[in-house]
Amino acid sequence: MINKIKGTYDILPDEVAKWQEIEDSIQNVSKLFNFKEIRTPIFEYSELFHRGVGETTDIVKKETYDFKDRGDRSVTLRPEGTASVVRSVIENKLYASANQPLKLYYQGPMFRYERPQKGRYRQFRQFGAEALGSNSPLIDAEIINYAATFLEALRIKNITIKINSLGDALSKEQYKRKLQEYLEPNIEELCSDCNRRYKENPLRVLDCKVDKDNPILKEAPKPLDYLTEEAKYHFEQVIEALDAIGLNYVIDKSLVRGLDYYTHTVFEIDANNMESLGAQATLVGGGRYNNLVESLDGPDIPAVGFAFGMERLLLALESVDKPVVDPFIHCFMIALGDEVQGDALRIVNDLRHGGLTCDYDFFNKNLKGKFKQAERLNPMFLLIYGEEEAKDMVVNVKDTRNGVQETIPLANLYHYIVSHINTQGSSCSGNCSDCDEC
Ligand code: HAM
Repeated sequence: MINKIKGTYDILPDEVAKWQEIEDSIQNVSKLFNFKEIRTPIFEYSELFHRGVGETTDIVKKETYDFKDRGDRSVTLRPEGTASVVRSVIENKLYASANQPLKLYYQGPMFRYERPQKGRYRQFRQFGAEALGSNSPLIDAEIINYAATFLEALRIKNITIKINSLGDALSKEQYKRKLQEYLEPNIEELCSDCNRRYKENPLRVLDCKVDKDNPILKEAPKPLDYLTEEAKYHFEQVIEALDAIGLNYVIDKSLVRGLDYYTHTVFEIDANNMESLGAQATLVGGGRYNNLVESLDGPDIPAVGFAFGMERLLLALESVDKPVVDPFIHCFMIALGDEVQGDALRIVNDLRHGGLTCDYDFFNKNLKGKFKQAERLNPMFLLIYGEEEAKDMVVNVKDTRNGVQETIPLANLYHYIVSHINTQGSSCSGNCSDCDEC
């Protein structure tokens, strides 16, 4: 029998629905942020990743699948998506398009020869996004918000957003020298890889997997303390924007990320205390990379992005409340009395304009008949509207998943429904201003 390659897996028919849920959320949330999909090949000339990701990174040094094709060209199965997207933007001159910044997202398989374990594979899938063409700190915050909103859409709420700044090229250079000076007297106590890295690219010592708990590395100088004034200002603006959006984050001065192209903001989002994820708690990583486009022979344009590991999202979903499978029908209207029929139809139509799937009893059956029809359609919410409700400008809403019935002012109806779709019927009436949904 021929088995699958180590570090790969099959997605069997029973598991496809979970993947589709993630894929649907990718499309829906990307649409909300106005990012457009881009699809690039899964292999590229090796030089792209050597120059893009960095010769001395673990990814390029130890993890790429490189081979010669039959025409003796060096090609590599992509280990990540950013370098490929940048290559495509340059080659297709997308940077010259009228819509700036360019906002692109992608998903698909990536390949790294890593030691396989739960949440770490040799073929894995990423959902990534890249915004090219703007140096505004607002777009750093927008990218972090996009990643956080995507997790929220998947109901993954117990997370920590960690951010840091590496600064511009000058800050990075200053810091590199400082780090080299610091490491020099103790370098022999670190692993052989670190000894090599410290000369070639000292920042890479900081993401050593062997010595990661060594106090020498823990107490090393931090990039944030070596920022130029300009870089410091950029970081402060990112923080201000995150505060304005209302995202919770922590500044992690030790966060450097394992790819060479980063400048300024770097960030990761970890899942907290999720046993299903094992040791691989980092769901997404990203940051700004202002010099990559130029270093790959494109124009001098700044950029920022992120990538999620999709298998880790799937594992994280095992730890959150049972996924709510949206029934096809959100609301079914039961209108009681001939006088309110027109009004009730209008209410239903308003909800549809807000994207809710609604149905109606067009036969004007008796009460029993109406409830029977509702039962068959299995809507998430029953809307009950009669003369009394019309007079008081309210609707009775029953959450069929838990039987809770509430009287909701017409003006709050849409908000109430939308904010209760992903909860199993909390008792909020949609305007309390202190629950999770309001
Ligand atoms: P990265 O940190 O190398 O960044 O990977 C991003 C995410 O991919 C990780 O946080 C993790 O969830 C997932 N991942 C990485 N390796 C594996 C693996 N072997 N098995 C399963 N999941 C894995 C990048 O790739 C950058 N291109 C992100 C970026 C985009 N920065 C700016 N734009």
